[in-house]
Amino acid sequence: MPEPQITHLRQQINYHLHRYHVLDAPVISDAEYDELYRQLVELEAAHPDLITPDSPTQRAGAPPQSAFAKVVHPAPILSLANAFNMADFYAWRARIGRLLPDPDVPLDFTVEPKLDGLSVVLTYQDGRFTQGATRGDGQIGEDITPNLRTLRALPPHIPVAPLPTPNSQLPTYLVVRGEAFFPLDKFDSFNADRLAAGEAAYMNPRNAAAGSLRQLDSAITAQRPLTLYVYDFVAWQGGRVPDTQWERLQLLRAWGFPVSPDSQYCPDLAAVAAAYERWATYRNTINYEVDGIVAKINNRPLADSLGFVGKDPRGAIALKFPAQEKTTRLLDVVVSVGRTGILAPAAVLEPVEIGGVIVRNATLHNYDEIARKDIRIGDYVLVKRAGEVIPYIVGPVIDRRDGTERIVMKPSHCPACGEPAIQPPGEVAIYCDNPACPEQLVRRVEYFVSRDAMDIESFGGQTAVLLTEKRLIHDIADIYYLNKETLLDLEGFKDKKVDNLLAGVEASKSRPPERLLAALGIRFVGSVVAALLIGQLGGIDEIAAATQEQLQAIEGIGPGTAVSVTTWFANDKNRAVLEKLRAAGLRFALERTAVAAATPQPLANLTFVITGTLPSLSRGAAKALIEQHGGKVTGSVSKNTSYLLAGENAGSKLAKAQQLGIPILDEPTLRKMLVGAQPVL
Ligand code: IVH
Repeated sequence: MPEPQITHLRQQINYHLHRYHVLDAPVISDAEYDELYRQLVELEAAHPDLITPDSPTQRAGAPPQSAFAKVVHPAPILSLANAFNMADFYAWRARIGRLLPDPDVPLDFTVEPKLDGLSVVLTYQDGRFTQGATRGDGQIGEDITPNLRTLRALPPHIPVAPLPTPNSQLPTYLVVRGEAFFPLDKFDSFNADRLAAGEAAYMNPRNAAAGSLRQLDSAITAQRPLTLYVYDFVAWQGGRVPDTQWERLQLLRAWGFPVSPDSQYCPDLAAVAAAYERWATYRNTINYEVDGIVAKINNRPLADSLGFVGKDPRGAIALKFPAQEKTTRLLDVVVSVGRTGILAPAAVLEPVEIGGVIVRNATLHNYDEIARKDIRIGDYVLVKRAGEVIPYIVGPVIDRRDGTERIVMKPSHCPACGEPAIQPPGEVAIYCDNPACPEQLVRRVEYFVSRDAMDIESFGGQTAVLLTEKRLIHDIADIYYLNKETLLDLEGFKDKKVDNLLAGVEASKSRPPERLLAALGIRFVGSVVAALLIGQLGGIDEIAAATQEQLQAIEGIGPGTAVSVTTWFANDKNRAVLEKLRAAGLRFALERTAVAAATPQPLANLTFVITGTLPSLSRGAAKALIEQHGGKVTGSVSKNTSYLLAGENAGSKLAKAQQLGIPILDEPTLRKMLVGAQPVL
């Protein structure tokens, strides 16, 4: 009997709908969900008498959450039927053909990316954005207007420019629909920041978008890099809207809406097939997640006349890509040692093919994250690969546990050197605290020679392992003291290979100092911060001599970086390595002319006196800041003083300056002058 099977499928589907739409925490992949849904549709088609009004096939999406006001949509916000390959797509074409007077009438289409974000419905009255809502159950959504207003891509009024053609007369009332999403390139660093701040990471960009838009405080949404593409009209009054989907996209764009540049016109079925094929690889190169493309019949009156099945319009279809998510077994969690000594958990997976690539490993962020997601060794886990992002574990499939799963333990010792592991208070990371740890050294050497650092191409990862193992390298500076004879003794190191290696090492000696600084592997000092520090201070010795205050006075250097830098240079062992590098002939400073070019000097020829307590700068930091920008700081006010920089509780110097008519600055005004602005006093 199919009845128990149907009931079971409905329960499962409802459970997964709730996990996905309400909790933002799916436990199966979209593809697996689609498969359950497909089975239900099939069974119901064969047994229409068993269809009940509460079947998931009879409604759309999940109920809205209660915290937001409800919005009744002016027309149902429909979904899309899925095709999983071209055969499904041709079958769809044949099905709609049977509903047309001439089944073989040539049709043209648009192909648009099927963005994997959050569906939003935007209302404009007299060209002004008045309301934004989520899709909700397709009839009633949630009012998230203040949150949507924070999206820079969303036009607050339209048109942004005078209209090009009379036919594009603007409706007085307009409702459009689009998809808000989280750009991929921002996702990893956003999650890393959240973890560092002790917050939970979002499982994927879609959840990050949904979570960001469902904030009750729109100030939080405003800090998220959300963006949006608009792709359809929902309702309008007045004005005129063209009859083809392709022209509608152009018109939306002309009015100022963001429309995906990846949308295209397809004159026939073959063009759709070619687009589908192209997208299979193209999808991995773009900055947003897509789970398929949408093919829409270009002739909208014709498309709309076809009606819909349940919540899916017949005139369009989603052509899904093969899943980028799969479930597989978590075989083990191993510890990897990073160059800073971080002991990071890494997942060993039963190999699984995801989007054409065999995946064997995945990231697991840190041990708190493993505990929070309750991931256990032996679990079936949902693994996801998105764009260029490293595969990661979304979560365990709890239903598939059989009791043999094991809890993942935090490491008590470094697996490489055996020294005890430490977890600094307030940090999620666990460290090996042994500076002589051989594995850390390998990582530091690998980092030093890598492309972003000293870029020694002839020096591969295996060379780093071998040379540290053979004790030819005890610190990064030893790279510059390798000699040909000892290298020739190593297995597999022939004349040519050794010459190559040594020539690469030699050439790296002339790399600019900011590269060397970045290559040292000081925490928080990557290539951007290194270039900033060298540009401001001129060389590594100046940075080594700078106090924490002086470093913090540099715009873009925070307290964490300042502490990290001073601590690193205060360490005798690090100093010894630096001296070895200097003796080898590496570049420690910019050429003189380059220093002047790198640091703008808007305060040149100006003399300052500082008094009172400034809001954010200490006396020393203010002095350093002024001097870095070309100004001079003296101790007492005279007629030669250009400005008095005054904070709270300023005393006699303030009185003296007022007496002499010396202009008085506060800290914010000084900061504006640093970027070249004239002070407004
Ligand atoms: S058209 C009648 N176009 O995919 C209009 N939907 O699985 C039906 N989606 O609910 C939707 N990109 O949230 C359409 N270019 C696009 C889309 C798109 C993403 C989402 C949308 C829809 C879901 C259906």
